[in-house]
Amino acid sequence: MEPVIPPIEDGAERDRLEIAIDDCVRRFYAKGAEDPLLGPIFMAIDGLDQHIGIVANFWSRTLLGTERYQGQPFAAHINLPIEPQHFTRWLELFSVSANEALPKTQAEQAIAKAAHMTQCFQSGLFPFVGADGKASRVPAP
Ligand code: HEM
Repeated sequence: MEPVIPPIEDGAERDRLEIAIDDCVRRFYAKGAEDPLLGPIFMAIDGLDQHIGIVANFWSRTLLGTERYQGQPFAAHINLPIEPQHFTRWLELFSVSANEALPKTQAEQAIAKAAHMTQCFQSGLFPFVGADGKASRVPAP
């Protein structure tokens, strides 16, 4: 189920969280760039710095309810060369980054949201069961 995230009203706390979100996303992409599985995909992103800003906007919307992100995350992943194992690694690296950079409450919220989205993305991208019994983009022959 979609995690519910209560609003934060305090302006100083929101400012601190925006900085922590930026830190979290940068740590995540630094780890991803060095990762054998995700590195080639992340390093191929055109305008990586701008992309990091877009993803920070996404987490700002998710955790703080801002309107900084207006995109469609699923659509950005349809044509990427990714398989279920990429999502497992993505979530591992994101969880480590969130625990390093965010306060405990926001780290838990972000990880729950990310876990939910990895499930949703995979249901959309791999709707079939392949001949090997694993989730697949195409039906078993
Ligand atoms: C297999 C795991 C994943 C990989 C390898 C991956 C990689 C990427 C790449 C390469 C892009 C840039 C696409 C482009 O601009 O053409 C992107 C965009 C994005 N990803 Fe992921 N991603 C993964 C999973 C996720 C998950 C689980 C989330 C959400 C929690 C997420 C959130 C986003 C967002 C918000 C964008 C920006 C979309 C936009 O431009 O509006 N990604 N991702």
